[in-house]
Amino acid sequence: MNLTVNGIQLNVRTAGAGPPIVFVHGFPLNSGMWQPQLEMLSEAACLIAPDLRGHGDSQVVEGPYSMDLFADDIAGLLDKMGIEDQVALCGLSMGGYVAMAFFRRHRTRLGALILAATRAGSDPPEGRRGREMAASQAQIMGTGVIVDGMLPKMLAPATYENNPGLVVQARAIMEKNSLESYTGDLFGMRDRPDSTPTLPEIDLPTLILHGADDQILPVLEAEAMHELIPDSQLVVLPDSGHLLNMEQPKLFSEAVQEFLNKK
Ligand code: MLT
Repeated sequence: MNLTVNGIQLNVRTAGAGPPIVFVHGFPLNSGMWQPQLEMLSEAACLIAPDLRGHGDSQVVEGPYSMDLFADDIAGLLDKMGIEDQVALCGLSMGGYVAMAFFRRHRTRLGALILAATRAGSDPPEGRRGREMAASQAQIMGTGVIVDGMLPKMLAPATYENNPGLVVQARAIMEKNSLESYTGDLFGMRDRPDSTPTLPEIDLPTLILHGADDQILPVLEAEAMHELIPDSQLVVLPDSGHLLNMEQPKLFSEAVQEFLNKK
């Protein structure tokens, strides 16, 4: 469905009924990445997976897209949908950066956090320069150059070997995004703050999920967050990389369900 939020049209996929869970996609992705969870968890919860501004079928608007802006879009979306209950917010990678911004800005709306394949730190100077180079490349040569550069690292070695269909699917999701979404995200991520000081303040049950073979962010990042978030649990999924929810959909969904049942 399409909803007007903060003056722009956002596309949101929904499924199921029950306590609300919001799924926030990573870069350079869209809500299509959450299809396995929309199918597997629909008997347990009301599932809400938006395309962030500029992504998928949401309206394309000029960037940069700060993590705060994305967080405010999600809060606006919940208002628009009339969701007053506290939500569980699940963010993967850039979606995790958004989840931490959402915690800082909209804490009262949250009942639990799920941080998948993400990290707390901001970009070091060489990372910031890398974002700028990637944005320039996308502007000059097109977004395909980023897709080609990232796709070989998005999944675990076992996935490339055993599940070529998933590689095709991940590419299709990455290709269904505007140039503005690429540059908007890259500049937004470049300028995101360090969320490390936020971690000890997270007073919510928190599930940290990470792929054992993540080639983009090492498991060390998840372990570091687990050490600093008081009520957190860490689950590392085997044979999965950066897109662990797609690579191990059953294990990922079961971990989410078990966490929500216990909290
Ligand atoms: C993501 O998957 O959202 C990105 O890899 C995050 C990043 O580039 O920092």
